[in-house]
Order: sequence, then C-alpha cells, then structure tokens
Amino acid sequence: MPALPPEAGPLEPGQSRLLRGPDEQRRFGAALAAALPPAAVLFLEGELGAGKTTLTAGLVGALGFTESVTSPTYALIHAYPTPAGRALHVDAYRVRDVQELYELDLEDLIAGSRLSVIEWGERLYADYPGAPILRLEHLAGEEDVRRVTRLR
Ligand SMILES: Nc1ncnc2c1ncn2[C@@H]1O[C@H](COP(=O)(O)OP(=O)(O)OP(=O)(O)O)[C@@H](O)[C@H]1O
Ligand SMILES: [Mg+2]
Repeated sequence: MPALPPEAGPLEPGQSRLLRGPDEQRRFGAALAAALPPAAVLFLEGELGAGKTTLTAGLVGALGFTESVTSPTYALIHAYPTPAGRALHVDAYRVRDVQELYELDLEDLIAGSRLSVIEWGERLYADYPGAPILRLEHLAGEEDVRRVTRLR
C-alpha cells in the first residue's frame, strides 16, 4: 500500500500515510476533528507505543481540550470535557466479554459524546459500521516514524 505525504488531505479507506514524529502524529489526529459528525466513533488499532494516545491527544486537543491526554489502559474509559462536548477515550484491550462494555452503558455514553475514540474495539466494529478504523504501526528499524492505515 503506497504511503501518502502528510499534507495529502483526508485519508480514504484503504490508504496509508507515514507520520514522522509525535508532532505529525498529533497534527494528523487534529486534522480528523473537523470531519467528525456529532457522536462520532473512531476505532484505533495498534500495538504498544504505536501512537494511539498521541493521535487521540491531537484529536481531543482540536476540540479545544488543553489538558493532557493519557492512555486509558487501567481506567478503561477516560472522559474529557471539551468545549465542543465530551470526548471519550476507551481502551477495550483487556475487556474479555463485550457484555462488560454494554454494562458500562457504553452505547449511551457514546450517543451523548461529541466523539468516542475506541482502542482495540473490534468487537464493536459491526455495531458502528460507519465508524472509521485506523491501524497504527511501527516500521521495522525506524523509531521516529509510524504508519497509519485507514482500514475502513
Ligand atoms: N509518528 C510518530 N513518530 C515517532 N514517534 C511517535 C509518533 N507518534 C507517537 N510517537 C511516540 O511514540 C511513543 C508512544 O506513543 P503513544 O503513547 O501515543 O502510543 P500508544 O499507542 O498510545 O501506546 P500504548 O499502547 O502504550 O498506550 C511516544 O513517545 C510518542 O511520542
Ligand atoms: Mg496509549
């Protein structure tokens, strides 16, 4: 899959792009914000350190949230009050049964949020068919770059 330069505009399904450094990663996230409908869901996949939190920080920052954004690994869900509305950051990696997510009233939380970024949410992909899926990856031997691929 050819990688597009960072200035190439929105990433279409099936396209990928190289992001060189955390600032580019954040800017890519920020650029997604404008295109998000109300109560948008965005799925992120990517191994440890792939840049999921950095991209999310850019996105949530673009909604006007100025404090720090951290990985929700232990909390499962972080909720950021942005001037544009609540932003949820969900990490479903350690969730064994999708039922656990629904018991948290995740559906209602998502419906009442400006944006929900969901990491490792493949069990929810079918429930939110309109939500883009981004995969973030390291490149072998290159610590200062990540590849983002829009799977859907
Ligand atoms: N495009 C990039 N190029 C180089 N380094 C990056 C890029 N994006 C993020 N980083 C750096 O990679 C490290 C990991 O980023 P981040 O915490 O966002 O990853 P993560 O996917 O959330 O990891 P985890 O699974 O541990 O929560 C950070 O030091 C960050 O600054
Ligand atoms: Mg993280």
